[in-house]
Amino acid sequence: MECGFFNTCRAVIVFIWAALTLLIVHVASATNISIHVAASEIERQALLNSGWWKDRIPHNTSDHCGWVGITCDYEGRITDIGLAESKIKGELGRLNFSCFPNLQYLDLSNNNLSGSILSQIGSLSNLKYLDLDRNNLSGE
Ligand SMILES: *[C@@H]1O[C@H](CO)[C@@H](O)[C@H](O)[C@H]1NC(C)=O
Ligand SMILES: *[C@@H]1O[C@H](CO)[C@@H](O)[C@H](O)[C@H]1NC(C)=O
Ligand SMILES: *[C@@H]1O[C@H](CO)[C@@H](O)[C@H](O)[C@H]1NC(C)=O
Ligand SMILES: *[C@@H]1O[C@H](CO)[C@@H](O)[C@H](O)[C@H]1NC(C)=O
Ligand SMILES: *[C@@H]1O[C@H](CO)[C@@H](O)[C@H](O)[C@H]1NC(C)=O
Repeated sequence: MECGFFNTCRAVIVFIWAALTLLIVHVASATNISIHVAASEIERQALLNSGWWKDRIPHNTSDHCGWVGITCDYEGRITDIGLAESKIKGELGRLNFSCFPNLQYLDLSNNNLSGSILSQIGSLSNLKYLDLDRNNLSGE
């Protein structure tokens, strides 16, 4: 490439530099978005696998953030699970708590959950509120 004027050369270089920067930012944020989508899909699958939401998915919402008892943050990660007095039976471990690292609030009181209180719950580092009262759980 022949650059007749110093300014033309500089303009070309600035242009290429700007284009590359934009590309890198774009790729980085697209990667970020796909990581977030993947993480919220794991959370959605964990809710479905528990079977606890079978009758609690409003017909008009495929987004699990709109399901009964679920609150998400702005990135679509679950922060609250509140299903007190919801007649849930079976093992507490049906819900895979390791899938909800952003969980802050968990209320499953007044159900009929059995099994032992899982170490998964203890490792939820953002948890601020926990109520498992009135179930059939054993300690540990
Ligand atoms: C990726 O997401 C995090 C928050 O989870 C944010 O702090 C960071 O700035 C994002 N990076 C890009 C390149 O968008
Ligand atoms: C779903 O329907 C309920 C009640 O019919 C309504 O309150 C809610 O806003 C609807 N949600 C969406 C996402 O349309
Ligand atoms: C729970 O989820 C974690 C992370 O996705 C996975 O490694 C683990 O095998 C799951 N546990 C069960 C019991 O499904
Ligand atoms: C809990 O489940 C057991 C066994 O299925 C049943 O006998 C009991 O009545 C249930 N308790 C409540 C509060 O639903
Ligand atoms: C409570 O759990 C124990 C075993 O963990 C079981 O034997 C018992 O039937 C359960 N009781 C109720 C009411 O579900």
